[in-house]
Amino acid sequence: MTSVEAELIMQRADDLATHSQSSTGIDRQYLTPQHAAVNAMAARWMREAGMETWQDAAGNQCGRLQGNGRGLPVLLLGSHLDSVPGAGRYDGILGVLIAIATAARIEEGTLPFDLDVVAFGDEEGTRFGRTLLGSYALGGGWNPEWADELVDHDGVSLRDAALSFGLDPDGIGEAARERSSLIGYLEVHIEQGPVLEQEDRALAVVTSIAGARRMYITMHGDARHCATPWNLRRDSLVGAAEAISAIERIGKERNTPVTVGHIRVEPDAVNVIPGLTEFSLDIRDADDESRDATLAVILDEIERLAAERSLTVDVRHTHEASATHCAPRLMHAIAAGIRSTGDETPRELFSVAGHDAMAVAEATDVAMLFVRCKGGISHSADESVRTDDVGVALDAFHAAVLALAAP
Ligand code: GLV
Ligand code: MN
Ligand code: MN
Repeated sequence: MTSVEAELIMQRADDLATHSQSSTGIDRQYLTPQHAAVNAMAARWMREAGMETWQDAAGNQCGRLQGNGRGLPVLLLGSHLDSVPGAGRYDGILGVLIAIATAARIEEGTLPFDLDVVAFGDEEGTRFGRTLLGSYALGGGWNPEWADELVDHDGVSLRDAALSFGLDPDGIGEAARERSSLIGYLEVHIEQGPVLEQEDRALAVVTSIAGARRMYITMHGDARHCATPWNLRRDSLVGAAEAISAIERIGKERNTPVTVGHIRVEPDAVNVIPGLTEFSLDIRDADDESRDATLAVILDEIERLAAERSLTVDVRHTHEASATHCAPRLMHAIAAGIRSTGDETPRELFSVAGHDAMAVAEATDVAMLFVRCKGGISHSADESVRTDDVGVALDAFHAAVLALAAP
């Protein structure tokens, strides 16, 4: 019956995609009306799967399938329902939908643990600059200062956004789960890379997730009339252009993924030399030391380039997550799940992309199952998965949960 379930998952992904804050593509950010709408849909599907549901203090939608007793420890399954602007239909979403479909296959009262599915409200971090807010809250990594410190592009503070969503902005940390109550966390996610497609495989076990840092770098010069002669100009945008090219060069030389995905100039007028240019930097690597060594080289080079143009530089760090290593016992369960689908030698992959599992790892062991996606394309409307792969992923994930339930 796999194909019927896989088709239902694909249909649900299409239904979730209708909730967007943009009319030109999928864009669903934390603590928005669209977030509330998809939580309500996920809650309905969780109840249909036999779970009791609640929204936690951080706006994560949760469902629980009771195990075979009272006061049992909890196995968490999940991923996220928020998206980047111009997103596809499967990043995060597929993991939530496969987790719900897994719970739907299991009868209440049969597992030796409670099975919780969590649909996280913020993994992408596109609204408040700081990422993994929903999963940090559950993992116990919430910082109460974020309520006032974090402000979106429209000047709305996280405090006000939480209030409009119906949450207590000073109580978000209460979403934290007790380490002693948890068995572990399993997450399905599209690969967001081309390896599985190149190797003609549907699934992989994730070994570890890259440690990431994000920051905003601001270059300050002078906003002046465009009649200003060359020798008197302090053009922050040209300085930033050189800095961004240097970031790419250094990232390539050191084989470190670096991305500048945001740029803003002031005063942003055609006939004024930009006095201020702000751009983002996302840098990640398999280990934190090499990532930080590359970052040091980049920041030194930006300082050197800025000095040549008499610009000054500020760096505002917004996110730092250490590389996360998946727990061998949970990886074994995922690998057993993949083997149960006929793939005798499960592929292991390292994840450059960040995942909720990184933040949940503060509270419990984690592991992940990757699913092939077309062309490795993600963070794009062109994201695509095969329905038969979704069915195989569901079988493997279900088998992984049963492997953990086995005595
Ligand atoms: C999330 O998709 C990330 O890798 O930044
Ligand atoms: Mn993403
Ligand atoms: Mn994701």
